Amino acid sequence: MSYQIAIDGPAGAGKSTIAKMVSKQLNFVYVDTGAMYRALGYYCMKENIPADNEEEVVKLCMGADVSIRYIDGEQVVVLNGENVNGVIRTPEVGNMASAVSVYKDVRAKMVDIQQKLAVTENVVMDGRDIASVVLPNANLKIYLDAAVEVRAKRRFDELSAKGECPSYETILEEVKDRDYRDMHRDNSPLVRVPEAVLVDSSYMTIEEVAAAICAEFDKVK
Ligand code: DC
Repeated sequence: MSYQIAIDGPAGAGKSTIAKMVSKQLNFVYVDTGAMYRALGYYCMKENIPADNEEEVVKLCMGADVSIRYIDGEQVVVLNGENVNGVIRTPEVGNMASAVSVYKDVRAKMVDIQQKLAVTENVVMDGRDIASVVLPNANLKIYLDAAVEVRAKRRFDELSAKGECPSYETILEEVKDRDYRDMHRDNSPLVRVPEAVLVDSSYMTIEEVAAAICAEFDKVK
């Protein structure tokens, strides 16, 4: 039987970076489920489908071919045959992913793909509904959190490093909006399941968080 580590938490808590590091240390496959919703958000943007038009969004997403491949150990999201890794990391696509991921049919399709991946491989999977819906029997469940101001500051630093001139206040509002939508939607909202270990990354380094998660895994494996 394969091992499963589920990491859930709000945007900007460091899930992807940390899940990737943990998966390398344990030699597990990393599954970034947010990237799959981002691919769908990107597709809707490209096709000019407004996120609030459920019928059109669902129609487009049901016809989308989304899959995950691994090239040199890196996860690649393939949308209708095209590698979309290079275009899904923007804040706009993140917000659109959050908006289209509220729909039940969209989620059901993604959850099915994610569950199939975890049957055959040892996985570290991160997202919003991993412990609650996708891998309810995961060996280890982590809820990775950080103060909203810290998460907004991380996003601000990331964009500044890319040469953009973002406004911290705008980013803070966007992060709060995204938290609200991800935590209050009807379908699989972001929750901390009671058995999840809470890790607050606000004042920890990436290495410290990864070490804490590996130590938790040692206790349950
Ligand atoms: O983790 P991320 O920022 O890449 O995720 C983008 C959006 O996708 C997030 O705001 C909500 C949605 N998402 C989801 O609903 N369920 C998941 N398991 C992962 C992401």
